[in-house]
Amino acid sequence: MLVANFLQAYIAVISATVIANPIASLETRDFKIDTSKYCSAPLLDSSKYLPVKDSELVFVQALFRHGARTPAFYINSIKNDYFDCSNPLNVITDVDGASPPNASVSMKQTIISPVNAKKSFGYGYWKGNCVTGQLTDLGKAQAKSSGSSFRKIYVDKLGYINDKLQSNVNISVRTTNIWRTKDTAMEFVSGVYPKDKRSSDAVITMGQLPQEIENMYDNTAICPKISEIAAKITKTAQYQDYLKKRYTDMIRIAGIIGLNTTDVPTTKSLWLTLFDSIFNAKCTDKPYACNSKGQCINDSDIELARDSYNFEQNYMRRDSIYAKEYTKLSTGPLLNDLLQDIKSAIDEDKLLSASSKSSAKRLSIFSAHDATISAVLSALNSTSSNIGTPPFMTMVLFEIWKSKSGEYSVRIMQDNDVVKVNAIDGEAKPWCNMNSCKFEDYSKYVSKFVYDDYEKECYSK
Ligand SMILES: *[C@@H]1O[C@H](CO)[C@@H](O)[C@H](O)[C@H]1NC(C)=O
Ligand SMILES: *[C@@H]1O[C@H](CO)[C@@H](O)[C@H](O)[C@H]1NC(C)=O
Ligand SMILES: *[C@@H]1O[C@H](CO)[C@@H](O)[C@H](O)[C@H]1NC(C)=O
Ligand SMILES: *[C@@H]1O[C@H](CO)[C@@H](O)[C@H](O)[C@H]1NC(C)=O
Ligand SMILES: *[C@@H]1O[C@H](CO)[C@@H](O)[C@H](O)[C@H]1NC(C)=O
Repeated sequence: MLVANFLQAYIAVISATVIANPIASLETRDFKIDTSKYCSAPLLDSSKYLPVKDSELVFVQALFRHGARTPAFYINSIKNDYFDCSNPLNVITDVDGASPPNASVSMKQTIISPVNAKKSFGYGYWKGNCVTGQLTDLGKAQAKSSGSSFRKIYVDKLGYINDKLQSNVNISVRTTNIWRTKDTAMEFVSGVYPKDKRSSDAVITMGQLPQEIENMYDNTAICPKISEIAAKITKTAQYQDYLKKRYTDMIRIAGIIGLNTTDVPTTKSLWLTLFDSIFNAKCTDKPYACNSKGQCINDSDIELARDSYNFEQNYMRRDSIYAKEYTKLSTGPLLNDLLQDIKSAIDEDKLLSASSKSSAKRLSIFSAHDATISAVLSALNSTSSNIGTPPFMTMVLFEIWKSKSGEYSVRIMQDNDVVKVNAIDGEAKPWCNMNSCKFEDYSKYVSKFVYDDYEKECYSK
C-alpha cells in the first residue's frame, strides 16, 4: 500500500506489524499544552510580508505539506474513533467538455462502515468515517485558511495573481497520488478563490505522476539505491548510539500503545510508528493511549517521539556523511522538476517582456508531505534544527523576482520567514542569501543535487 510504502521508505527501521493485541485502554487528557506549534503551521501574514525592493514578481511556486490527517498506520490496540471526516472526499466531476446529455454525473467519494461489523472484518479498524492518512475536517479548514492567507498577499497586496479564477487558469497544481494531498490542494485553492471569486467555467487541472515514478517522496521501489544508502546511514556509530540511548523509552512507549515489543533489537527504530500514532492523538484532540497496567502516554513521550523522528530525518537528509548522496538519489528528481518549472517561467517572461505582455505562467502549487518539505529544506541546507517534523500546512514559497535591470533572483521562504542556509565548502558565509539569491547561483547549487542518469545511479553498485 502506497501510504505505508511512502512512510516506510525512510529507513528500514519500521515495525513490521503494527496490528497488536487490543490491550490498551484510553485516558482522557486532563491537561493541555499548546499544540499549535506542531499541529498547524502559522498562516502567511500579509502585514509582515515585504516585496523585494525595486523588483517585479514574475513567478511563484508554493510547496506545502497537507493539513491535519488521521494516523498513517492503523494500530488495533488504540481504541480511538475517527469521526473526523464529515465532508466528502474529493468530488469527481466530469469536466472534459462533454455536453449534456453525454456529460457524466458528479460524484462524491465517501468512506463507508461495514454493514455488520461482527459478521465482517469490522474488528480490524477504528470506528469512524475516516481512513488512515486521510485529511480530516480540521485539515481541510487549515488548508482553506492557508489559501486565504495566500490570497491576502498574492492577490490583495501584490495584485500578482488574478482576483478571480477565470476559465484560462494560470495555476498549475501537482499532488501526490494520495488522497490527502489532493484534498489539501482543492481546499487550498478554494481558500485562494472563495466561491464568489470563481467564474463558473473555471476548472483547475490537478496533475500527479504515476505512483511508480513519484518523486515527491522517497521512492525506494523505483530507486533501490536509496534503501542501500539509508541502510548505511542507520549503521553509522552516531545513529546506533542515538538508538541505544533511546531504546528503553522506545520500548516503553511502544508497549503502552500495544505494539509487540518482544525481539525488537536495539538497532531498530520504531520512532516513526510511535510518532505517527501518538502525535496524531495530540493533533486530532484524541485521548492518549494507556495500557492495562495503567501506564499512559504523556506529553513528554510525544515530545520525545517528535524529537527522535526529527533527528532521524535531519540526520538522514542533511547531517550524516551520506546525506548528500541520499538527497541526490531521493530528492534530485523533484529539485530538477522545481528548477525546470522556474526556468520555463523565466524563459516565458523574457519572451513576453519583449512584447510587454505579462507572463501566462504565474503560480505552481505542489501539494505534498512532511518528507517532501524536509527533503527540500535539507537539500537547500537549511540551518533549522527542525526540518524533520514540519507542521501541517507549512509552506515553502519560491518567488522569482526580476530587477529593473532584468536580472532574476529567487527568494525562498518557509511560511513567513526567509529560509536561512548553511555555509558550504569551507566558505565563511551561507551559500546564498535566500531573500534574494541570483537565479544563476540558485540553479548552479540545485543542479549539484541532480544526477544526469537516474537509472544508472539507482542501480549502480
Ligand atoms: C453524445 O454521444 C454520441 C455518441 O458518442 C454522439 O453521437 C452525440 O453527438 C453526443 N451528443 C452530444 C450532445 O454531445
Ligand atoms: C510477539 O512477538 C514474538 C516474537 O516475534 C512472538 O513470538 C509472540 O507470539 C508475539 N506475541 C503476541 C502476543 O503476538
Ligand atoms: C511522562 O511519563 C514518563 C514515564 O513515566 C515520566 O518519566 C515523565 O516525567 C512524564 N512526564 C510528564 C510531563 O508527566
Ligand atoms: C550542509 O552544509 C554542511 C556544512 O555546513 C556540509 O558539511 C554538508 O555537507 C551540507 N549538506 C549537504 C546535503 O550539502
Ligand atoms: C493566463 O494565461 C493566458 C494564456 O494561457 C493569458 O492570455 C492570460 O493573460 C494569463 N492571465 C494572467 C492573469 O496572467
